[in-house]
Amino acid sequence: MKILVTGGAGFIGSNLLQLLVPSHPEHLFLNFDKLGYAGNLQSLKEIESAPNYRFLRLDLVDGDSVSQTVGDFQPDLVIHLAAESHVDRSIHGPRAFVESNIVGTFNLLEACRQHWGGDSSKRFHHVSTDEVYGSLGDEGFFTEETSYDPSSPYSATKAASDHLVRAYARTYGLNVTVTNCSNNYGPRQFPEKLIPLMILNCLDRKPLPIYGKGLNVRDWLYVDDHCRAIWKVATEAHPGQTYNIGGNSERTNRQMVDAICAVVAGKIGVPASDLTSLITRVADRPGHDHRYAIDASKVKTDLGWEPQETLESGLEKTVDWYLGNTDWVSAVRDGSYRTWIEQNYAAR
Ligand code: NAD
Ligand code: DAU
Repeated sequence: MKILVTGGAGFIGSNLLQLLVPSHPEHLFLNFDKLGYAGNLQSLKEIESAPNYRFLRLDLVDGDSVSQTVGDFQPDLVIHLAAESHVDRSIHGPRAFVESNIVGTFNLLEACRQHWGGDSSKRFHHVSTDEVYGSLGDEGFFTEETSYDPSSPYSATKAASDHLVRAYARTYGLNVTVTNCSNNYGPRQFPEKLIPLMILNCLDRKPLPIYGKGLNVRDWLYVDDHCRAIWKVATEAHPGQTYNIGGNSERTNRQMVDAICAVVAGKIGVPASDLTSLITRVADRPGHDHRYAIDASKVKTDLGWEPQETLESGLEKTVDWYLGNTDWVSAVRDGSYRTWIEQNYAAR
């Protein structure tokens, strides 16, 4: 099979390709990514020379190039991850989110509609988020039937892209599947997101900023578990199906930061209180969703997926990865991963 992965230089995309490329030599993978600030080819160095892997630098907003690429490559399966992904950035600059997440998804759907010509054996798998459902109170879970109610520009653009994907299925008969997943963590995540930011700030003894009272709840899932779910749904689910994917690991932000401090402290041999003393309450995020929690029973019943990692095992693996990959960390921190990209991959 020929598989087009968009956003494969980002956090989840690079972990997905690291998992699939070596284990599926029978498939050819084309990763296309614009290499925005979160795109890092150093996250793919273990597979960059694999015979079944190709990379192309391409912006989804450039509809003509997207169409040409889909026409040339003729994928059997598209796994669409590329998006602007950080809620805080969407609050400060929503335009890029509208462009990449809505217009970009539209361009990719159009290219598939044009080049697949109604061939329903070809599939478009759309990777989305639980944030489209908005916020929960202290009780209850998001199911696949929960109404959309996005709070941030980020989640509103992801909701719009989900609607476009489903509209292409209903109107043009495109074979689509959708996954809506909770918060991921693990190796290769850009250190603007809570978990890598806290790990690296612990190592630097910098303040650990917690928004508001730190009582917002997220349902954390180790990234490899999400990647296994994406692959299962993309290759086994019936056309038109949506699946919620979650870790069944709810924590308040304060609980999560305490847990990170404990793991990092254990690894570097200092008392956890040396690190928890760095916790600093800062202004809350505008429109901050109170709680996300996923009911993942449909994907378990239909496809037999459930997480393999616990929060404890996943957090330990994650901290080990950041401690053991100082080249990746320092290149991201000092910005040299950008210089390397510009020298090696000029935009076409
Ligand atoms: P990320 O920001 O780490 O990576 C996104 C990648 O997409 C980057 O490499 C970036 O360069 C690329 N990209 C952005 N705009 C593009 C464009 N216009 N053209 C081509 N490439 C573009 O994000 P992530 O955390 O890996 O998330 C990947 C996907 O998974 C997103 O669609 C996100 O909404 C979804 N998701 C993320 C999480 C999470 O917790 N991180 C949870 C659920 C769903
Ligand atoms: O739920 C899935 C979503 O999870 C994905 O769709 C998004 O792409 C991904 O970024 C993530 O969104 P969040 O906003 O939940 O993740 P973030 O890591 O930014 O924040 C997690 C929680 O921690 C949130 O309640 C805000 C809080 N936070 C975050 C940062 C960066 C802090 O308290 N301090 C911080 O410095």
